[in-house]
Amino acid sequence: MGSIKMKTSIPGPKAQDLLKRKEKSVARGPFNTVLSFAEKGEGALLTDVDGNTFIDFAGAIGTLNVGHCPPRVVDALKSQLDKYIHTCFNVMMYEPYVQLAEELARITPGTHAKKTFLANSGAEAVENAIKIARKYTGRKGIISFDRGYHGRTLLTMSITSKVKPYKYQFGPFAPETYRLGYPYYYRKPEGMSNEQLDQELLDRLEHFFIAEAPADEIAAVILEPVQGEGGFVVPSKTFMQGLKKICERNGILFIADEIQTGFARTGSMFAVEQFAVVPDLMTLSKSLGAGFPISAVVGKAEIMDAPNVGEIGGTYAGSPLGCVAALEVIKMIEEEGLVTRSEKIGKDMLDRFQMWQEKYAQIGDVRGLGAMCAIEIVKDRETKEPDKEATARIVQLAQQKGLILLSAGLYGNVLRILVPIVITDDQLEEGLQVMEQVLAGVLE
Ligand SMILES: Cc1ncc(COP(=O)(O)O)c(C=O)c1O
Repeated sequence: MGSIKMKTSIPGPKAQDLLKRKEKSVARGPFNTVLSFAEKGEGALLTDVDGNTFIDFAGAIGTLNVGHCPPRVVDALKSQLDKYIHTCFNVMMYEPYVQLAEELARITPGTHAKKTFLANSGAEAVENAIKIARKYTGRKGIISFDRGYHGRTLLTMSITSKVKPYKYQFGPFAPETYRLGYPYYYRKPEGMSNEQLDQELLDRLEHFFIAEAPADEIAAVILEPVQGEGGFVVPSKTFMQGLKKICERNGILFIADEIQTGFARTGSMFAVEQFAVVPDLMTLSKSLGAGFPISAVVGKAEIMDAPNVGEIGGTYAGSPLGCVAALEVIKMIEEEGLVTRSEKIGKDMLDRFQMWQEKYAQIGDVRGLGAMCAIEIVKDRETKEPDKEATARIVQLAQQKGLILLSAGLYGNVLRILVPIVITDDQLEEGLQVMEQVLAGVLE
């Protein structure tokens, strides 16, 4: 018997009541993918208030690599609750913060001395990484990349790429931020090889230092080693290493935003490992806390120590509960072999996606790294015109059949999979079968 159990259509009666209350009292700004409300989560399964059980291929947008409510994380949280909930690290320190900093230094790439600053959300980690980079270099400029996503606060929104819905009418934006090209091989100019595209983008950066802003006024480049919201775009090793070299030559810090790619998502603990690039700073969040809000900036000790005492911090930054959850997540990934599992899940999914691509002309591209896999839906393989409507229909129909899917991409035409890596083989197979049925219905 399968894991999916659909007792009602979505939204069911209880969810409809809650939706009415939500519409009255909750601002309409936050979007909702599934038109229902959660009752219970376990592993890769999520049950709603009407008793419908879904297979979750979204994992709270990449937050649940270790699954919903892993018992060891829940136990660690409960035992922490019995001791103290919060002291504020700025008032009285606690060991889990120090332990987590030690662990993050151990598991992140590079053999250099490292230090960590903890915060609450991804955007807050990115904000702090930029503050630290500016303080260390004495420079102001920040370079981010087309299709990059770094958050919704003023600075992170300013370095984020997609206009609607992230930036439209929310300006003015933070100054001294610049955006350059990131290789998107599927949509490269006709007749150009991947290698030529890499070279062209790296050359444009050199040109940028002459035409736009001098290299010695740029503090950092920040990029996602695989773009998340941008549509799971995977760059080449050549591009990543070429970019790192340009940074090194010019005293520019390289910040890897691994908020979505980190913690075993891509078939390695961190995605940058697969490009053999060692960043100066990394931003981490999402799956770090198994759903408990916590984030981190980890990097070279001398850079991390640039801000003086009192210059970075926050009331809830690095809360004890977030720290104990994160410590358990790291143990779980290592002890349960989730990096290897992510690689296997990714391979199985991509094999399946490639079979579908042969069958359906509207599947323009399939791509991914480890268990960070995506399908790009187009109206026509030749023109590659994005098909946002078909993608939205697939997400909607899948939901009615008990599969939670997410879309992404500048044009909203990418189906992206961020399934909990603890999913069982049977659940993965069941989810893929639903996905195939829905694709067949929409694309044929
Ligand atoms: C790569 C990346 N950076 C930053 C963020 C922002 O994180 P948060 O939503 O926790 O502020 C996200 C969130 O999706 C992300 O994917």
